[in-house]
Amino acid sequence: MRKVVIAGNWKMYKTQSEAKIFFSEFSTHLKDTASQAAIADQQVLICVPYTNLSLLQTLAPTVSHPNFNVGAQNVHWAENGAFTGEISAPMLIEMAIKYAIIGHSERRQFFGETDETVNKRLKAAQAHGLTPILCVGESKQQRDQGETESWIFAQLAQDLVDIDQNNLIIAYEPIWAIGTGDTCASSEANRVVGLIRSKLSNPNMTIQYGGSVKSDNIDEIMTQPEIDGVLVGGASLDPASFARIVNYRKG
Ligand code: 13P
Repeated sequence: MRKVVIAGNWKMYKTQSEAKIFFSEFSTHLKDTASQAAIADQQVLICVPYTNLSLLQTLAPTVSHPNFNVGAQNVHWAENGAFTGEISAPMLIEMAIKYAIIGHSERRQFFGETDETVNKRLKAAQAHGLTPILCVGESKQQRDQGETESWIFAQLAQDLVDIDQNNLIIAYEPIWAIGTGDTCASSEANRVVGLIRSKLSNPNMTIQYGGSVKSDNIDEIMTQPEIDGVLVGGASLDPASFARIVNYRKG
């Protein structure tokens, strides 16, 4: 059975004191919204800035959800070395971090991430026992030019070389839907996620949708048969919104 994974991506938001406030309110909101029956099969995580990882690892057990984790937003391919500003997988593993986002479009767009470096990061993450969340997705221009499928297939072909598909999550994040409020229609997201699945050797991989997921569209997104979860930016910063997303309602 495919696992449901509801993930937040805080990006470069929240100081430690702001993160503490979020955590103190999040459990209350989780209890306030009705939970769905399959909660035991659902993983919930929030990928936070490195400066919050240690603090939030200590607070994670206080969150009233049985499968809650804190994750990272990137990981370097080397175990250590002269790579100023980077973080290695052993550093995360020592802190009992289990998940790391890799290849987010903001890394690709603003920090020179390529499919080659994404592949190296994925390999290192898996070699050390992390579960990576690989992000793929097309720009507005690529979509308008009818290149969505070919672009994503090319990303997958390069990113997944020698990658263990049994320890991987993929997030389909159309770039034009990120932070814009311009959500991809859920049926279209479902179609693309289905196409991504058709290219995988593991058809049971969890594939998420990301891009302007909010508390008022989560229920519809999660009714789509190919979509196994979401990767949430802006709405994961607000404890009430993110709790409602975690407690999405089925059908
Ligand atoms: P938004 O939910 O703010 O559109 O961001 C999506 C995203 O980039 C998650 O990784």
